[in-house]
Amino acid sequence: MKMAVFLSGTGRTLDNFHERIQNGTMQGSIEVVISNAKDALGLQKAVKYGYPAFQASGNEAINKIIDDYEVDLVLLAGFLKLYEPPARLAKNVINIHPSLIPSFCGAGYYGMHVHRAVHKRGVKVSGCTVHFANEVYDEGPIIVQKCVQLADGDNPDDIAAKVFEAECEAFPEAINLVHDRGVASFWA
Ligand code: GAR
Repeated sequence: MKMAVFLSGTGRTLDNFHERIQNGTMQGSIEVVISNAKDALGLQKAVKYGYPAFQASGNEAINKIIDDYEVDLVLLAGFLKLYEPPARLAKNVINIHPSLIPSFCGAGYYGMHVHRAVHKRGVKVSGCTVHFANEVYDEGPIIVQKCVQLADGDNPDDIAAKVFEAECEAFPEAINLVHDRGVASFWA
């Protein structure tokens, strides 16, 4: 599987992918990294790892870059904009969301906003969801979910740290499942 990684921020998920692909525990290869944010630390990391790396903000500009690479999966790794892929990749975009969908998801729920809402509601478990993306935020078939147990004293930062640890297992696991079963099996 030839993959494009899209990010908007620190690129911690890119770090995880890079490490796991290198040590043979995650399938696929990263062909290109794209950030919508100019100063994203993740873009600098992509350069450091030796991946072709670009900043592009609109769908059209992004899809132009994608066209130049042989990509069959797009991984949204902390990409905080709604992405419209070209038709040939319509079912091949995978997102990670830092809650257990369908809770705490949809427009406005991203990054720390999710963990603050989780904290405020006082739920006792949270987690992450890896799912195929469609034209609506946080919809599309679910591939993997992982729960984390929250403690009474956890603040939003504690929750974020626990969830990110789960993300580091869930995303590679999901990619390996898609590699083994094929994209189509999740949309059936
Ligand atoms: C991802 O790890 C994910 O939890 C969240 O953003 C993080 C990336 O942050 N994604 C979403 O909220 C998507 N709705 P980072 O760039 O600081 O690593």
